[in-house]
Amino acid sequence: IDTALSDGPLKGRHVIVTSGPTHEPIDPVRYIANRSSGAQGTALAAALRDLGAQVSFVSGPASVPPPEGVRVIPVETAREMRDAVRAALPADAAVFAAAVADWHVENAADRKMKKDATGTPPALRFAENPDILAEVSQMGAGRPGLVVGFAAETHDVARFASEKRLRKGCDWIVANDVSPGTGIMGGSENAVTVIDAAGAESWERASKDAVARRLAARIAAHLNATPN
Ligand code: CTP
Ligand code: CA
Repeated sequence: IDTALSDGPLKGRHVIVTSGPTHEPIDPVRYIANRSSGAQGTALAAALRDLGAQVSFVSGPASVPPPEGVRVIPVETAREMRDAVRAALPADAAVFAAAVADWHVENAADRKMKKDATGTPPALRFAENPDILAEVSQMGAGRPGLVVGFAAETHDVARFASEKRLRKGCDWIVANDVSPGTGIMGGSENAVTVIDAAGAESWERASKDAVARRLAARIAAHLNATPN
C-alpha cells in the first residue's frame, strides 16, 4: 500500500461495502442467483481504499476478483451477508452495492433433488430475505454515520429510488437504470443519480471506476464535514 494513499481523506475511517450477487440454495448442487457481476462494488471498495479507508468488503460470489488491500469477507446467501455485516460493525459508513436476492428457498433440500417418474417438477416455496440495508439504516445506537444504498431499476428510476430511500431510512441512494438497452448490468460503465435529503443529482455516464472514485470522494467530503 502506497503510504501517500493510506494518508488520504479517509485515513482512520472504517467503511463496510457489500457487493456481488447472493446465491440462494435449492439443494446442494443448485441455487438461485442474479446477473450482478460485483464490478461496481469492487471498484467502490478500491476507490475507498485509495482514499485511505479501512474497508470491510462483504461479497457474494462475484465474477470479478476482490480488490487487494481490503478485508474480504466472502459469503453466499443473503442471511450470511446480514450476519457478516453485523459482525463487521461498527463503521463510519456502510455502502450496500450488493444485489441481494429478495427471497430464499424455504424448503431447500439437504440432498440433490431427483426427477420423479411422473414428471412432476418440484414445488419451491420462497421466504423473504432480511433487508440488510433497511436493518442497518434503522438501527439506533451504533448506526454508521452514513448509510448508502443502491437501487437498480428498469423504469421510473428516480421516483422508485427516492421512495426506496425514505422507506429504508438510508441517507443516500445511488440509483441506476439497468434496463437491457443500457448495457449497464454486466457492462463496464454506469450512469447514476445520487439522491439525498436535499434532492437528486444525475451524473454523466462514465466507467464504473470513475463513478466509484466520484462516489468515494463524496463520501470522504461528507464524513470530513461531520464531527467524528
Ligand atoms: N438490499 C439489502 N438487502 C436486501 C435487499 C436489498 O441490503 N435483502 C439493498 C441493496 O444492496 C441495495 C438496496 O437495498 O443497496 C436496494 O435494493 P433493491 O433490490 O433495489 O431494493 P428492494 O427493497 O429489494 O426492492 P425491489 O422490490 O425493487 O427489488
Ligand atoms: Ca431487491
